[in-house]
Amino acid sequence: MSAPHLEAARPTTPGTAVGTPATEVPADTVAAGPGVQHAVGRLDEIPMGEGRAFVAGGVQVAVFRLRDGSLHATQAACPHAGGPLADGQTDVDVLVCPLHLYAYRWSDGAATSGAAPIRVFPVRDQDGTLLVTV
Ligand code: FES
Repeated sequence: MSAPHLEAARPTTPGTAVGTPATEVPADTVAAGPGVQHAVGRLDEIPMGEGRAFVAGGVQVAVFRLRDGSLHATQAACPHAGGPLADGQTDVDVLVCPLHLYAYRWSDGAATSGAAPIRVFPVRDQDGTLLVTV
């Protein structure tokens, strides 16, 4: 299976999808594995070491830009009591919810406390545009 083709340097609106239309998906989306890849915003909207909330195909997501250069994306609301995960504290292994300090692993979204997990999504930077697959 070949990688989806993405258009280069097309102006984007946060929350819109980019790419070449596939046969069974709307014209402004592109299939990317089991999900659909969406352009959610610009990399420079997120200061190093912080997260920001975006919408990807109608799904509220939190995207994080860690100081080691890595990017991570999760669901926006904490499953415990709806805390804003984009405002959480980060390290290389976990995201800590700002409300009650539950920690979730970047790798799979599992809570280190055994609480309900969070959803994690593939995210990447393409020429300064954040692409999240949901
Ligand atoms: S709302 Fe996130 S830990 Fe309670």
